[in-house]
Amino acid sequence: MTDRWAVISDVHGNVDALKAVLAEIDRLGCSRILNLGDHASGPLAAAETLNVLMARDDMISIRGNHDRYLLTPPETLGPSDAVAAAQLTNAHKEWLAALPATALVEGVFLCHGTPDSDETYWLHDVTPQGDLVDRGGSGIVDLAGAAPVSAQVLLCGHTHLPRIVQLATGAVVLNPGSVGLPAYDDVTPVPHVVQSGDPAARFAVMARGQQGWDISLHRVAYDTGRMVALALAHNRADWAQPLKTGWFET
Ligand SMILES: [Fe+2]
Repeated sequence: MTDRWAVISDVHGNVDALKAVLAEIDRLGCSRILNLGDHASGPLAAAETLNVLMARDDMISIRGNHDRYLLTPPETLGPSDAVAAAQLTNAHKEWLAALPATALVEGVFLCHGTPDSDETYWLHDVTPQGDLVDRGGSGIVDLAGAAPVSAQVLLCGHTHLPRIVQLATGAVVLNPGSVGLPAYDDVTPVPHVVQSGDPAARFAVMARGQQGWDISLHRVAYDTGRMVALALAHNRADWAQPLKTGWFET
C-alpha cells in the first residue's frame, strides 16, 4: 500500500476545522501528519485545539511565530494571541515550549515561514503598495537559507495560501494552506490582506512514489457556525467573515 503523509498548518485555534481535516486524513489512510505551526492563536478554541493535537501520536509538529508569541508575557500579546493565551493550561504551554522551530523527517524539511525565519513569507511576497504576489523562483531559492540541500521536499506555512513550486534543483516547496483561517490582514512589512477566497479547511497529502513524492492539495468544507460565533463573541468580525466566506474584503 502507498505510504501517505498529511501536511497541515496554521490551525489557529479552529478546532472544528481541525477535526474535519483529521477525519479526512484518517479516511485517506495517512501514516503520519506533519504540522507546521500556529496551532492555537486566535479568538476561537485554543485549549480544545491543543487537546486534539496533543492526543495524536502520529503527528510531528513544529512551532509557528504565534506559538512563540503565546509564551511571552501577557502584556506583550496582540488581541488574537491574548484570547488564546488566556485559555492555556501549564500542560499546553509546556507542549508549545517544547516544539522545535524546524524539523527534518526522512529527507522532508519542515519550517513555518522560511528555513531561517518564522515571520517571513516564502512562496509569496508583499509589494511596497501592499499587494500580495507569488514570489519568483530565484527569490524562493535566495530564502532557502539553512534548509538542507539534500531535502527533496521543503514544507512551509505562514501565508495561509496553498502553493506548490518546483525549484531548479528539482526540490519541491509546498505550502498546504491553512486549516483554520482562510483570510487575514497584517501590517508587516506594509499593511496588506491575504485571502484564499475559500472558507474550506486546507491541507496536503504526500504519497511516496517511485519517482519521489506525489503531492496533492485538499480542501474540506465544514460547518463554520460555532467558530464564527466564537469570533463574534470576542468582537472579531475580522475573523468571523473570513471564517464564513474565505474573504477578508467583500
Ligand atoms: Fe498563521
